[in-house]
Formats: sequence, C-alpha cells, structure tokens
Amino acid sequence: MLGFPLGDGAELRSLEPWQAAEFADHVERARPHLAPWLPWALRVVDEDSARAFLQRYADEQARDAGRIYGIWLDGTLAGGTLFRVFDLRFGVCEIGVWLEPRAEGRGLITRAARHMVDWAIGTRAMARVEWRCVPDNARSIAVAERLGMTRDGVLRAAYPHNGTRHDVEVWSLLATDR
Ligand SMILES: CC(C)(COP(=O)(O)OP(=O)(O)OC[C@H]1O[C@@H](n2cnc3c(N)ncnc32)[C@H](O)[C@@H]1OP(=O)(O)O)[C@@H](O)C(=O)NCCC(=O)NCCS
Repeated sequence: MLGFPLGDGAELRSLEPWQAAEFADHVERARPHLAPWLPWALRVVDEDSARAFLQRYADEQARDAGRIYGIWLDGTLAGGTLFRVFDLRFGVCEIGVWLEPRAEGRGLITRAARHMVDWAIGTRAMARVEWRCVPDNARSIAVAERLGMTRDGVLRAAYPHNGTRHDVEVWSLLATDR
C-alpha cells in the first residue's frame, strides 16, 4: 500500500502522527469544504488535535482495525482516504474520503478507493466494503457509483451533524459482486 501512484502528480501514502503539522495545515485549508460533511474537520484545529486524530488511526492500524492514508498532489497533502471501519471478524470495512477543492475533478479518489477495495477484498479477504454518505452529497455518491457499488438503503436520521439529524445512504460492494 505504501506509495501507490495515482497519476496526475499524485500519490497515496500512509498518513502518520509525525505528519501532524502538515495534516493540520491541510485541514485548515480544506475546512470550509469538508465541514458540511465530516465531523472531524471541526475537531482537527491545530497540531495537537491533528496528532490525536492521526494517533487514533495509528492505534487502530496496530490493532488491524482501521487505517488512514494521505493523498499528496505535487508534493503537498491535498486529501486522503481511510478505513473508518475494518472489521476482520465480520469481513466488513468502510471507506471514507476527502479532498481539497484544488484536487477534485481528476479521479484521484476513485483511483485511490479502487486500490483500497482491491486490497481489502483481494489481499485481506473482506467480504463487504461499505460507503456511507448523506443523500445531499452528490460527489460522494458519484464515487460510490463509479466504484460499482450498490445502494443498500437509507438509515433515516442516523447522523447528527451541525445541529441537524441527517439520513445516511449505505452503499456496498461485495467480494461476490466482482
Ligand atoms: C467526495 C469527494 C472526495 C469527491 O471528489 P471528486 O474529485 O469528485 O472524486 P474523484 O477524485 O473520484 O474525481 C471524479 C471527478 O473527476 C473526473 N475525472 C477526471 N479524470 C477521471 C478519471 N480518470 N477517473 C474518474 N474520474 C475522473 C470525473 O469526471 C469527476 O468529475 P465530475 O464530478 O466533475 O464529473 C470530494 O468532493 C470531497 O472531498 N468532498 C468533501 C468531503 C466529503 O464529502 N467526503 C465524503 C464524505 S461521505
């Protein structure tokens, strides 16, 4: 997984606690774009909170229960992906993604997520890869569609965010779908 080239001057790489300052700067740039959708974009506000967020994923990676990756575009952190859930017992994982606006519209997330799906199903024998988003998030839904996922259904009012309870669409790709 380390150093997977995404083309277009971009690379997918592990994102680790020692990169907290770089991550904090990136979230600062991306915050207005991410905050409508991602709760952590409001929690990661400085180097300490960035380190705490990355450390949580480092701990989960050590337990083989979650992972986080950065996307560097022309050498600058411009987005990322994560396995928010990585449940080997159930054979289920969930992918999350984000980009700064300058990195959108190039297919970077579709290629990165495809690589993660290949690794999760092909290397780690996951049976089901999930994608969750709110129904208003058209760009996120478009990625799930490009990945060939199926819309399983909607969890009504499952996600309290920014003072509103949002529905959550659940999309999935099964190992047996491929
Ligand atoms: C969700 C998000 C990551 C999607 O980013 P994105 O750039 O639309 O997705 P991709 O990187 O896969 O790029 C797809 C776009 O690149 C274009 N593209 C160009 N080359 C491409 C290629 N080789 N392959 C696929 N798409 C390509 C596609 O046409 C599409 O553009 P369009 O939507 O204008 O048609 C981004 O909008 C974002 O960060 N949003 C805020 C955070 C967020 O919502 N995260 C998800 C929470 S569920």
